[in-house]
Amino acid sequence: CPGERNESEKRASKGLKTLLRSRSWFDNPDNAELTALYIERLMNYGLSFDELQSGRPVIGIAQTGSDIAPCNRHHIVLAQRVKEGIRDAGGIAFEFPIHPIQETCKRPTASLDRNLQYLSLVEILYGYPLDGCVLTTGCDKTTPAQLMAAATVDIPAIALNSGPMLNGWYQGERSGSGTALWKARELHAAGDIGYREFLKIVGSSGPSTGHCNTMGTALTMNTLAEALGMCLPGSAAIPAPYRDRQEMAYLTGRRIVEMVLEDLKPSGIMTRGAFENAIVVNSAIGGSTNAPIHLNAIARHMGVKLDNDDWENIGYEIPLLVNLQPAGKYLAEEYYRAGGLQAVVAELAGKGLIRETITANGRSLRENCLGSVSADRDVIAAYDAPLKESAGFLNFKGNIFDSAIMKTSGLTPEFRRTYLENPADPMAFEGDAVVFDGPEDYASRIDDPALNVTTSSILFMRGVGPVGFPGAAEVVNMRAPVHLLRSGITALPCIGDGRQSGTSGSPSILNASPEAATGGNLALIQTGDRIRIDVGLRTVNLMVSDIELHRRRAALEAAGGYPIPPSQTPWQEIQRNLVSELSEGMVLTPAVKYQRVHET
Ligand code: FES
Ligand code: MG
Repeated sequence: CPGERNESEKRASKGLKTLLRSRSWFDNPDNAELTALYIERLMNYGLSFDELQSGRPVIGIAQTGSDIAPCNRHHIVLAQRVKEGIRDAGGIAFEFPIHPIQETCKRPTASLDRNLQYLSLVEILYGYPLDGCVLTTGCDKTTPAQLMAAATVDIPAIALNSGPMLNGWYQGERSGSGTALWKARELHAAGDIGYREFLKIVGSSGPSTGHCNTMGTALTMNTLAEALGMCLPGSAAIPAPYRDRQEMAYLTGRRIVEMVLEDLKPSGIMTRGAFENAIVVNSAIGGSTNAPIHLNAIARHMGVKLDNDDWENIGYEIPLLVNLQPAGKYLAEEYYRAGGLQAVVAELAGKGLIRETITANGRSLRENCLGSVSADRDVIAAYDAPLKESAGFLNFKGNIFDSAIMKTSGLTPEFRRTYLENPADPMAFEGDAVVFDGPEDYASRIDDPALNVTTSSILFMRGVGPVGFPGAAEVVNMRAPVHLLRSGITALPCIGDGRQSGTSGSPSILNASPEAATGGNLALIQTGDRIRIDVGLRTVNLMVSDIELHRRRAALEAAGGYPIPPSQTPWQEIQRNLVSELSEGMVLTPAVKYQRVHET
């Protein structure tokens, strides 16, 4: 643009030595032929020589929204405001699609596709003339997938959430994403409601554009993206239809151009301290059990050491402050009005629990939240008057697995009384295993009287990890059989090598690693085995002798190992061959060694 100062000159005047990486595509006299080819094709829809050679930062907008990805579809509208922000700040916007992910529709499970979206975005960020990128986050896996890619490539990147849906309502009660389903499936199974009403209740929980309105995986991961510093302060919780979200889209577009000029990259933001802040925040918000999987994955791609012991050591003693379903009562609109993440961080920072880390706006997380106060103490409680003390995750070990987590904010007093508290040892519980091999096996047998499920049963779900399912199914939170539901028992202890929905508050012991399909001892448990869970010691043990375990292992191996169903698509097979355990983030193992690839 004539008269405008060249952006490269601006960088130089700020002492920035590196040229914008897009210059090597668009203005490279040493390779005129290629430069001409790049420019020629990008001019064909109206861009000018001046624009492409002005030295303006070229900003990608990774578009995750489409008709088959409704949680993120609002980004089609928001992208327009992002582009206006980019243009006003002196950049050029290139919007491009990446592999879509829709949590509820994708078979066999959306989490199979997290690593596929990651791979597709890495290739685009590395292979095209982009100086920075806006990541359009929202539905569960779309947030970690894009943060993982930003970590691998390490060019300036900023996340923008599509935003949660408005509150759902049914017969005067709040109807939340997922939570309405878990409640309605009990009523439906017990015969209290019919098929049509079941569908109507669940449908009422999705009243507008946006992602899940509970503190499920979507709102959790976007809140953690803000806690990590990867989006503008105050942006994660704005409901999708609010005008504030369009304004935030514009500001995000403006800010990414500045981040490029400042050379503020993911490696400068997603430090060990930032991950520790995210763990602390996750406990305070009652975040999803998928958070450790995804955060551990982002950290591995960033080259930051993080594991499930960190989740317990840093996060367990943090109290629950946010009264949102599934751990509490309210939904995202109330959370936003009460102050969202900033009010939560202000409480935590007041106790010295927030580390000084730089965020996308160049200031620290703590600074961004200074002075924020909850506008509704029933929704965001004060640190000294929490909804629950010690609400983080516990990391269990034992002779069945090396790591499996429990979300303690889902441990209700009733559950503790029924299953854990006995005068001899208030933190320990023994029960008899009832074992299911996958969701079909569970669905066909859970109500079979011959199974003899009682209140001292422990339900096991195996064969549903990253390799077994494949992609790791959200099926560990199993409902009790109908005869127990009728007597008021809704939750039994559940253990498994799969995941559970972030909208489930179930106190399962899940994400067990290694999974049955890769040689974990979960494969050796038999229905009727005695199991001891010791919450105090963080152990789960199968009470059979080592000799017996050895015998069962030999028999399993002689039979060809734990059965794994065949892959249905090429990607299922490729991922199965490369994927790590849930405790390690379910990452593609060969991908972890690629870091800061923009420099290669
Ligand atoms: Fe997409 Fe919950 S299903 S956010
Ligand atoms: Mg889910």
